[in-house]
Amino acid sequence: MTTGKSVQERGEWSSKVGFILAAAGSAIGLGNIWRFPYTAGEHGGAAFLFLYLICIALLGLPIMIAELALGRYRHRNAVGAFEAIKPGSAWKLVGFLGVITGICIWSFYSVIAGYTVGFIGKTLIGNTLSYEAFASNPWISIPLTAFFIFLTVIVVQGGVRNGIERWAKILMPILFLLMVVLIIRSVTMKGAGAGLVFYLKPDLTKITGKTVLAALGQAFFSLSLGMGCMITYGSYLSKKDNLITSGCFVAFFDTLIAVMAGFLIFPALFAQGMEAQRHDPGLLFKVLPQIFSQIPGGNLVGASFFLLLAIAALTSTISLLEVVTAYLVDEKHWLRRRAVWITAAVTFLLALPSAMSQEGMVPALGQLPLINMSFLGLMNWTFGNITLAIGALLTSIFFGWIWKSSISHAELSEGCPWYRPIAPVLSFLLKFFCPLTILVVLIFFLYNTIK
Ligand code: TRP
Repeated sequence: MTTGKSVQERGEWSSKVGFILAAAGSAIGLGNIWRFPYTAGEHGGAAFLFLYLICIALLGLPIMIAELALGRYRHRNAVGAFEAIKPGSAWKLVGFLGVITGICIWSFYSVIAGYTVGFIGKTLIGNTLSYEAFASNPWISIPLTAFFIFLTVIVVQGGVRNGIERWAKILMPILFLLMVVLIIRSVTMKGAGAGLVFYLKPDLTKITGKTVLAALGQAFFSLSLGMGCMITYGSYLSKKDNLITSGCFVAFFDTLIAVMAGFLIFPALFAQGMEAQRHDPGLLFKVLPQIFSQIPGGNLVGASFFLLLAIAALTSTISLLEVVTAYLVDEKHWLRRRAVWITAAVTFLLALPSAMSQEGMVPALGQLPLINMSFLGLMNWTFGNITLAIGALLTSIFFGWIWKSSISHAELSEGCPWYRPIAPVLSFLLKFFCPLTILVVLIFFLYNTIK
């Protein structure tokens, strides 16, 4: 049952701040700045924003706290945490589903992260190649994808994470400030008002089962939930840390950045009369250059923005690879080096069809038969929404019904002196509200799909 590694050997976060930075680094990434705007654009703007915020508060936050507690309890990885609590049962398959999901998300995420890297240079030198031409060129997108996978491997393998954490502490506030500046430009463009209306004035009649599933999936994706990521990160926490405040911090900053991304994109999008593109995965890369072209020093500002975004994406891919690595190292006793490189090779092969699916590079991959989605879109929908929702559903059931409540409550109260009054609320959410809501949404979606 034991992995043979003591807590000391596995390592702990150097400080509470170190953990919050790492977890926020995992959460904040392309999910907030690339995925959130075009998903909101596809699903009705303000109505989606409204649902998304509800999902964060009532589903995301409790499940975040549950994952952190599961990981910290016996300091185990995504699979081992389930095994430590219910040895020999099928529950470890939940962790296993997370490991598979991690690889699949990492694959398509690296394609977009690669675009971000490409756009650093492109913006800096003022290259006018359109996004369409950029994304449809295999000599651009495939090497960039490989490069980003390689970058993640180097960081996770070398454990340069301390360095990364320190950099993130300085760079993420700069990203935040840069976003504020760009938002001011975006909302002051002529015709920006229509974008604000789209983003802030909900038309609740537009909500369908698919909208709800997309909002729920976006909440989990953005908070890095439903695949054992926060279990793995929680496993490096000490019993002195306050899981509840940490979880709230991470959720707050992550949500703030996503909401800001909407204020960045929609006003400029409508001001440019490009609103037909609002559900395009290329949305970010089409709109931002328009903003950069309207501010002094736009090239430099734009290149800095893409650089910071690439770093934000890197702190997210690190966490995806870390879930897989921690599992292979702890449970399968692989050497860290081997685990990291083999996972990367598999991920690169899996990323190829995604990299070739955008903007007409390989038309058959850009428009898969029957489902009317690109290969990247399919990966994003399946692993970014469905399996995360299933993972989160099973995690909440495990936490609420399988884990002995006296033990789970004891775990949560360690490091949290004011846990008692909120215990019943958290219990209710994790036992009843989360599992039921996610289940209903999934069933409703399934029913609508096969009907
Ligand atoms: N949350 C990250 C983002 O918003 C992506 C990510 C990292 C993720 N780890 C994850 C998504 C685990 C789901 C599960 O960019």
